Amino acid sequence: MSIVVRDLVKRYGEKTIIDRVSFEIAEGELVSLLGPSGCGKTTTLRCIAGLETPEEGFISIGGEVVFDSAKGIAVEPYHRDIGMVFQSYAIWPHMTVFENVAFPLRIRRRPAADIQQRVTRALEMVGLGDFRDRSSQQLSGGQQQRVAVARAIVHAPAVLLFDEPLSNLDAKLRDQTRAEIRKLQRELNVATVYVTHDQAEALSLSDRILVMHGGTIRQQGTPAEVYGTPVDSFVADVVGAANFLPVTGGTLPDGTVLRATGSGDGVAMIRPDRLFIGGTSDNNLNGTIRQRLYLGGHYEYLVAVGPSLLRVLSSVMVAEGAAVTLSFAAADCIILPAT
Ligand SMILES: Nc1ncnc2c1ncn2[C@@H]1O[C@H](COP(=O)(O)OP(=O)(O)O)[C@@H](O)[C@H]1O
Ligand SMILES: [Mg+2]
Repeated sequence: MSIVVRDLVKRYGEKTIIDRVSFEIAEGELVSLLGPSGCGKTTTLRCIAGLETPEEGFISIGGEVVFDSAKGIAVEPYHRDIGMVFQSYAIWPHMTVFENVAFPLRIRRRPAADIQQRVTRALEMVGLGDFRDRSSQQLSGGQQQRVAVARAIVHAPAVLLFDEPLSNLDAKLRDQTRAEIRKLQRELNVATVYVTHDQAEALSLSDRILVMHGGTIRQQGTPAEVYGTPVDSFVADVVGAANFLPVTGGTLPDGTVLRATGSGDGVAMIRPDRLFIGGTSDNNLNGTIRQRLYLGGHYEYLVAVGPSLLRVLSSVMVAEGAAVTLSFAAADCIILPAT
């Protein structure tokens, strides 16, 4: 295992921020920590990096124990075999691109020829081969972010840590850079922890997703597992757009019995792209179109069904105010515990 985190506890004063978190990451695996702001993603990452000292727990990186509260082990951050990319990039403006990227090698006292070769290679890998002598102040946000990535990989660390690295980029650049990060990570075959609150980023990048809530891991699994079979309404909501209808014993408040996957009390969860306007299926509910948004190629509708408002994605054009039937299959209607 490239990363082992066991029973990690981090407190600030009385507040427990990380509450017995455990996970393992295999060599070459990209694992996302996904969850809303404040759930403890950055704190977990900073504990792995050694920038925070946990109260309890065990952490190893590349087989080396870097933290063990029971044995009083706490290795300094710069002696941990990691590369880290922050949301803010943390590029030094007074240094050239080359010197920024060379920094991890300089503090490790690598020979000059080795530094030349590794920095050149790292800059080529992020597409900045021609920028080595540029001042860092002359770079766009996207280029600064690439410098930060080159600096993280230049010393061939056992583990890469990313903390919301794309959130300062505009939408187009974010999509492009996301794909590049994945390609690079595959090429390097390095275990990676990727912190994000963005469901699309986590779903598209990850081998596995750890969904966090209040300093704990609610669910972990492949993107398809957490998206397709969430354990509760919190996870369903965090990993993708979701509609929720309150149910008691699988029955809606108006007495309609749903044909669903699962049973009991809580909410029936249906994804917006699994609800169909018109047609007939296992479930057919009457509703009224409240709002229509054109998204280019398809529409997003808000449909009132009893007291609930459901989001529906559809390529069919229907007028606002129209009475419609929403149909959906039992397999796409999952009953979950409400949180
Ligand atoms: N230095 C600190 N002192 C006190 N509380 C902190 C400190 N750093 C983070 N927190 C709190 O810890 C919680 C988790 O923060 P963080 O790990 O940054 O969450 P995330 O990255 O998931 O948004 C938040 O409630 C935050 O306010
Ligand atoms: Mg954070």
